[in-house]
Amino acid sequence: MTTTAASKSDLLAYLEKSLSSERMKHVLGVRDTAIEYAGAHGVDVERAETAALLHDAAKWMSIPTQFAQCARYGVLLMREDRVSPVALHGYIAAEVGRERYGIGPDVCEAVRCHTTGKPHMTDLDMVLYAADFSEPSRPFPEAATARDMVMADLLDGVICTMEFRLQALMRKGRLIHPRTVHARNALLARARS
Ligand SMILES: [Fe+2]
Ligand SMILES: [Fe+2]
Repeated sequence: MTTTAASKSDLLAYLEKSLSSERMKHVLGVRDTAIEYAGAHGVDVERAETAALLHDAAKWMSIPTQFAQCARYGVLLMREDRVSPVALHGYIAAEVGRERYGIGPDVCEAVRCHTTGKPHMTDLDMVLYAADFSEPSRPFPEAATARDMVMADLLDGVICTMEFRLQALMRKGRLIHPRTVHARNALLARARS
């Protein structure tokens, strides 16, 4: 199940009420990019659009609120999530999508893993992960390179996107989430098989 027209407009109203104009511009850029990637690679366009709209729906919450919401939803956190809580907003948005908007599990799963990736990424997961990095308002030059790669080949493009993100994390001395390490290894194995 994806969104009905009514629940999509409810979700948009929630986003417009909750997110800053800058964040909203990003979300709409991810939506347009996800639609384009989905269309190019035979992924359900409506699901991709819904995932993109939902993906940062909890980004407005403070970090203490994000921890509280994860506890409320019974989300299991890894040690790295506690030390560097950058992915919590996706875990919460997936629960909000399911609970409040009746969004189906495949879309919610793409939202859940949009920050870290995961070992067995579906095409929908990959479309959202890549669109989040390479939507047009991203200010870094790697976004355009990633975008060209994704349009040419979804799997290669996601590997490229993940490597750009890993390089940025390492430059900043940040933790690498174990799920990202497993994701990259699984994507490489898939590319070589
Ligand atoms: Fe996000
Ligand atoms: Fe995002």
